[in-house]
Amino acid sequence: MKSSEIRKSFIEFFQKKDHKFIRSAPVVPIGDPTLLFTNAGMNQFKPIFLDESKPEHVRAVNSQKCIRVSGKHNDLEEVGIDTFHHTFFEMLGNWSFGDYYKKDAIKWAWELLTDVWGLDKNRLWVTVYKEDQEAYELWLSQTDIEEDRVLWFGKKENFWEMGETGPCGPCSEIHYYIGENIANQSSEGVNIDAQYWELWNLVFIQNERLADGSLVQLSQSHVDTGAGLERITSVLQNKTSNYETDLFQPVIKELESKSKIKYVDNPVPFQVIADHIRMLCFSIADGALPSNEGRGYVLRRILRRASRFGRVLKLEEPFLHKLVPSLCELMSEAYPELMEKSTHIKLVIGTEETLFNQTLGRGINHLEKLIDKLDSGSTISGEDAFKLYDTYGFPIDLTQLIARENDIKVDEDGFDSEMSKQKKKARQSGKFKLKDKNINWVTLSSEKDSEFVGYEYLKTSSRVLKYAEIENGFIIVLDKTPFYAESGGQVGDIGSISFDGVDLTVIDVQKQNEMIVHLCKGEVSNWSKATSVKCLVDEDHRNNVKRNHTATHLLHAALKSVLGDQVQQAGSLVHPNYLRFDLTYFEKISKYK
Ligand code: ALA
Repeated sequence: MKSSEIRKSFIEFFQKKDHKFIRSAPVVPIGDPTLLFTNAGMNQFKPIFLDESKPEHVRAVNSQKCIRVSGKHNDLEEVGIDTFHHTFFEMLGNWSFGDYYKKDAIKWAWELLTDVWGLDKNRLWVTVYKEDQEAYELWLSQTDIEEDRVLWFGKKENFWEMGETGPCGPCSEIHYYIGENIANQSSEGVNIDAQYWELWNLVFIQNERLADGSLVQLSQSHVDTGAGLERITSVLQNKTSNYETDLFQPVIKELESKSKIKYVDNPVPFQVIADHIRMLCFSIADGALPSNEGRGYVLRRILRRASRFGRVLKLEEPFLHKLVPSLCELMSEAYPELMEKSTHIKLVIGTEETLFNQTLGRGINHLEKLIDKLDSGSTISGEDAFKLYDTYGFPIDLTQLIARENDIKVDEDGFDSEMSKQKKKARQSGKFKLKDKNINWVTLSSEKDSEFVGYEYLKTSSRVLKYAEIENGFIIVLDKTPFYAESGGQVGDIGSISFDGVDLTVIDVQKQNEMIVHLCKGEVSNWSKATSVKCLVDEDHRNNVKRNHTATHLLHAALKSVLGDQVQQAGSLVHPNYLRFDLTYFEKISKYK
């Protein structure tokens, strides 16, 4: 079966069981500051699990584009070295939102794997959470798996969490033995030996992890499953490496012809590049761009890692961008956005690798001098590693990679401490950022919050539902609000919130998921009076922002009409006094074009 048929058959299997197909969310998450990249199929359903929004359908199925290179789920170290971890992968998933639970999830997963896809039951293993007797019994009553193939594991393996906070619960995983001889299998190998691949994870979402580390019970129980398309394809195509499947081979073949080196002679660089180019294409198609911070920096690191491995294949000239058309063609049936954006992706990657090639030479000289001075087994200092990063654009993992090849270590803690010094400097001039962590909310009322009424009203009478103290003021959540929250580069409203002799100045408004948070300056001695507050939006500020918003659209249209469709918006800032419009274009724009 081709990978595209496998993807399709998963989706159709669940559609026949009344699941609604939902398109993959972008890999760049919208409205969730706890995530840099979409890392699981369930991300887009987080508000449903947390009871913040209602599902249109109680059963869903999809294939989700996922990236795991940062945060809680980070596989970068293994990528390309082993044959089954990726920076970008597709997660096939089925969901129940308060509808079916463990029994059907288990029964259907087994039916699809063994009846429909015909996987050998003598190679499958199942794990359950040590406190989940119910799941254990369901495996034995609902499927024909042999009892000694159902194994118990602890929290690390079988309690799945999305991130530091968020929905979570016990899970049951299905593993597959890829070894040559099935007689060599044993339960001891599961979760330890690389020949046992985790194929599918069935998560029984019933809890939420809060910022203080505590676990609360959700009002309903849900199912969230995730199966890696690449591994399933590998198994169904009788391969023992994902890179040997039709998801990676076209790019690997192209690399072979460009480098005149055979994949079998040196697989790791081929694998790293074949993996990384997918991550780059998908993330750029969804709006990310290489840069020096946050998400953009992850892209830059991945691109530089791939570029450096290109040199191992003697590919000195920029080559990554040339792989873009074939990758887009390969994946665009399932993800048409790739084809639509392929010219843009190629330009971004080409520009970035050219830039890197220019600095790589100087950086490598510097690094080689450092390495020459060191004996084998010794360590590059944090300061030197930071200088390589700051001056020559060497991400720490690239320095480590080259150092490791020379049997030298890198002082990672020292590097981190240099980095935090620099960040601290930058923060002193920065503004308050909402993060789940470190906020001690005081809840006054637990009703549904944050209805935005600011298109109709600039003044309201509202109620404070919760607040928290921050440096020099408070953050406040209301039942309804006329204040527009910062979004898509447009600054939030300012104004005032007052009650019972208290007058707070609203200096910024930010959104976290569906919640609208007002940042206020001022003093409050008695919050119990905050049951009715007067909100007033600064109208001049709002109108000026509106004008600049309109101007942004005009500017975008003008740029497109003068320069053509190649102009891509890369970001924008809409402020009351000015606007900024970031764009990518494949050449320098002259004054008179
Ligand atoms: N959310 C689960 C996972 O990512 C299915 O493994």
